[in-house]
Amino acid sequence: MEQPNWKVRYVYLTEQFKNPERFLLKIQEIAKRGDFTLGQEARDFELEYAKKFGIKHAIGVGNGTDALFLSFRALGIKEGDEVITAPNSFIATAGAIATAGARPVFADVRDDYTIDPEAVEKAITSKTRAIVPVHLFGNPADMYPILDIAKRHNLFVIEDAAQSSSVMYDNKYVGSFGDAAGFSFHPQKIVNIWGDGGMITTNNDALAEKLRLWRNHGLKNRDEVIFFAHNSRLDTIQAAIASIVLSEVEGNTEKRAQNAALYDQLLSDLEPKVHIPKRDLCKVPVKPIYTLYVIQTEQQKELIKFLKNQGIEALVHYPIPIHLQEAAKYLGYKKGDFPVCEKQAETMVTLPIHQYLKPKDIHYVCEAIHQFCIQN
Ligand SMILES: Cc1ncc(COP(=O)(O)O)c(C=O)c1O
Repeated sequence: MEQPNWKVRYVYLTEQFKNPERFLLKIQEIAKRGDFTLGQEARDFELEYAKKFGIKHAIGVGNGTDALFLSFRALGIKEGDEVITAPNSFIATAGAIATAGARPVFADVRDDYTIDPEAVEKAITSKTRAIVPVHLFGNPADMYPILDIAKRHNLFVIEDAAQSSSVMYDNKYVGSFGDAAGFSFHPQKIVNIWGDGGMITTNNDALAEKLRLWRNHGLKNRDEVIFFAHNSRLDTIQAAIASIVLSEVEGNTEKRAQNAALYDQLLSDLEPKVHIPKRDLCKVPVKPIYTLYVIQTEQQKELIKFLKNQGIEALVHYPIPIHLQEAAKYLGYKKGDFPVCEKQAETMVTLPIHQYLKPKDIHYVCEAIHQFCIQN
């Protein structure tokens, strides 16, 4: 297939890692020591991550999906249990619930793309064991009402923070609110590595201890196993890469926030044809990190095609809500069950937002969107 002549790209990894020397030096050092599994850098990175985000424990795992899955298992969530989450997430959220044996139950979302606490409360049944709010696109879910519901109904809260390392809610980092939280270091996340990796955070000492066993075969020491478990560890090499990227996270998120502010300003006159969702629906201060910058328009497909012809890479996250996926058929949902999420899936357009964009790139994208609006 012929590739367009991209002028403004959504992807940015070649830019981010075009001078990889500082990463390669670290990898060389680890290779010389042969310290590949749960090595020094992996242990150091866990401490660093926990300290940076003000959480007691951080446990490195193989990916963000495992971070959720292992949290469910360690909390005793099992077959017959129901776990409430959002239908507009990446498929991994519901996938982790289902593969842990529980039934994913969905609750609709708000204009800021995060789960609606009122809808959560309505979805609770006698089988509900946990709520999984997703901090989607770098926007924090509204944690206080969710924690309040969880407390009243005696439910666990496991935050899906895969897209949201360094997001703040009421001046505290996400990942510190629930019983546990799962982060992803997938190449397209804000703390991104050269493959797969993830982190579980928790303030609960006993749960942290259990999770360290769950990610490493249930091994108490080299030879003794307490219970049968999984193998899902964050590689030492990947932890070393993550540590370098983490040290640059403030600068990167600041640049993204500047890009978002410029988009907000340049697109504001196009409302309601181009809708910029509100990010201040919570009653407390929030600090989103713009993992993605997502606008809404009734002419989703047309706009994406128009932008592509102008060399601008725009995508949809995510075009098919989870409850309408083939994998979710057995849950019995149908179109119309989650109208806000479904409407967003039909209208969302993700614009390039990464930290390597220049103001002239944002101006170029916004001029193209204005042109589209004039012509349509
Ligand atoms: C919201 C969300 N949850 C979970 C995951 C799973 O993370 P991973 O790809 O590291 O397994 C991702 C990312 O891929 C995600 O975006």
